[in-house]
Amino acid sequence: NKVVLAYSGGLDTSVIVPWLRENYGCDVVCFTADVGQGMKELEGLEEKAKASGASELVVKDLKEEFVRDFIFPCLRAGAVYERKYLLGTSMARPVIAKAMVDVAREVGADAVSHGCTGKGNDQVRFELTFFALNPELSVVAPWREWEIRGREDAIEYAKKHNVPVPVTKKSIYSRDRNLWHLSHEGDILEDPANEPKKDMYMMTVDPEKAPDKPEYIEIGIVSGIPVSVNGEELSPASLLAELNEIGGRHGIGRVDMVENRLVGMKSRGVYETPGGTILFTAVQELESLTIDREGIQEKDRLALKYAELVYAGRWFDPLRQSMDAFMEEITKTTTGTVTIKLYKGSVTVVGRQSPYSLYRQDISSFESGQIYDQADAAGFIRLYGLPMRVRAMLENGL
Ligand code: ARG
Ligand code: SIN
Repeated sequence: NKVVLAYSGGLDTSVIVPWLRENYGCDVVCFTADVGQGMKELEGLEEKAKASGASELVVKDLKEEFVRDFIFPCLRAGAVYERKYLLGTSMARPVIAKAMVDVAREVGADAVSHGCTGKGNDQVRFELTFFALNPELSVVAPWREWEIRGREDAIEYAKKHNVPVPVTKKSIYSRDRNLWHLSHEGDILEDPANEPKKDMYMMTVDPEKAPDKPEYIEIGIVSGIPVSVNGEELSPASLLAELNEIGGRHGIGRVDMVENRLVGMKSRGVYETPGGTILFTAVQELESLTIDREGIQEKDRLALKYAELVYAGRWFDPLRQSMDAFMEEITKTTTGTVTIKLYKGSVTVVGRQSPYSLYRQDISSFESGQIYDQADAAGFIRLYGLPMRVRAMLENGL
């Protein structure tokens, strides 16, 4: 039998390879997904996997699929978890796990394995995706089984099994990076009272050190999906990469929060989402022109649930998929451009335009009025306020 392991080349996943062979007596196929984490170590990764005892390494570039099929739907839905988290890690897990299910089929594996701890959300996201896409696969989660408790144990295990210990210095933070965001957890962040150190950030400059001159950019949107920056049409992944670059140099998109993990505990995390923060602002702003009052209110209500499902690893839940059909329909006319000003960590909308705009200056203007007759308002207010008048009559004995 054969197992497909989500493999990064770091110490933890390197140790999982001999551990699976020793404890499950199976061939290990390592799988590495490129979701834009910055794959400096892609060269040499195959040798490294094989030196750990893997029979092969499969690498897939998932960047375009990740942005087009996972990130952009969440953006269109306006999905934000617990007021602040733009779901970067939550969206990446299902695209990786889906690819693992494909690889398992391609190489004839009957099991899949990941290096997530038993205390986090990621294990849930991987495993719910495996369940949804191939309920016959067995799942092995070494961190929930083995005796290894930390870095020292892992190094000792590696040495005992002649696995080369990765030279890359382990950072003090637990980080997860992809094209959408970079998350930081652990070390001094574990005390929510501590301010993050300045040298922790990697995608964004310190807003205090950002350029003194603001930068204006124009985002083009078609049906709730971003398609261009400053008039230049870009593929989903290149558009996001471009905005990460621009947003990063203006210190955009830092979030520091305490969140509730699915497994019940609270956890403090810091996120950098430069391009994503710009896109969120732009898409939501355009909706203010193209969707009417109740449409926006209902969409925002559903967005809360949508975010909860994505956070909880239920990407392939029919509920999320049905909600997506709603999101697609209601944003059909959310097409146009939004002009944004970036300055020292802030994103300010300065203009929005749409061929489907529901805003009409001829109605809204203070200057004149043909369609809207101010005299109509008197009757409207009397009827709209009828329940209030009736209650007041009762309370006043009238
Ligand atoms: N707390 C975030 C989430 O649950 C980020 C998790 C980061 N994962 C990691 N393996 N470092 O989505
Ligand atoms: C982990 O425990 O593997 C990372 C944190 C998380 O999944 O929430």
